[in-house]
Amino acid sequence: MIAYFNGQYVSKEDVKISPDDRGFLFADGVYEVIRSYGGRLFNVDDHLSRLSHSLRELHMAPVSLAHLKTVVDQVIHRNNLENEDATLYIQITRGVAPRKHPFPDPETSPTVYVSASVLQPSPGEWETGIAIILVPDLRWGRCDIKSVGLLPNVLACQQAKERGASEAVFVRDGVITEGSHTSFCAVFDGQLVTHPANNYILAGITRRVVLDLCVTLGIPVKESPILERTLKRASELMVLGTTSEIAAVVRVDDWIVGDGKPGPIASKLKRAFGDFVQA
Ligand SMILES: Cc1ncc(COP(=O)(O)O)c(C=O)c1O
Repeated sequence: MIAYFNGQYVSKEDVKISPDDRGFLFADGVYEVIRSYGGRLFNVDDHLSRLSHSLRELHMAPVSLAHLKTVVDQVIHRNNLENEDATLYIQITRGVAPRKHPFPDPETSPTVYVSASVLQPSPGEWETGIAIILVPDLRWGRCDIKSVGLLPNVLACQQAKERGASEAVFVRDGVITEGSHTSFCAVFDGQLVTHPANNYILAGITRRVVLDLCVTLGIPVKESPILERTLKRASELMVLGTTSEIAAVVRVDDWIVGDGKPGPIASKLKRAFGDFVQA
């Protein structure tokens, strides 16, 4: 696999990250994961503008988004992924400097890395739906920044795996925020509800597409906190993300959602999402 690393296209195995890289030492970096369908990038501009937001909020130097887009296209091309479904991974760190907490010299070049992976679809996941667990949200108060500091997300997702579930969904002060690597939404009385895009969640690109699709389909939407204690009143639950797209949740911890099958709104959205991707 060919990757981009600090200005060069090299074999992924030949990428050498310095032990003094601030991404390695402090998780001082940001990232994006972009989906490509048959070589065509999905909502790439939204991903790159979220990357700019992450860089800005961490006072990291801006990067040329036009250049980054060219790099991503090149990585697809150089790996012969023009006809494949793949994910593109971008990571930018504050660069290499002696280990000291304050920011390094402003002249320090950021570390920029871009790679691709062929996406293996999870067969049958849509038909059966998925299980989730609820876990306390132990993350910091700037979840809108797509930082590589993902330890609470990793621990939560591992806990889900150990309990036979596909995703762990965070609860902060009695409010459902989002999944370890997905956005979360619930349907109450025919209305789709999802946490407002503030500092407690990542503004998911898939979440935005789904909200827009709801408007097109005439499904009422509300961006409002979902209280954990009301969750059992929801007729449908879903998690949304770049790799999983839309997944219907049929089990939460040890209780079953609705009749235990993907519901009508999730099915409608899944179809509309597929049409949107085709278009
Ligand atoms: C914490 C978190 N929330 C939500 C999402 C979904 O975002 P997107 O739809 O942009 O993939 C992700 C994706 O990685 C995530 O890590």
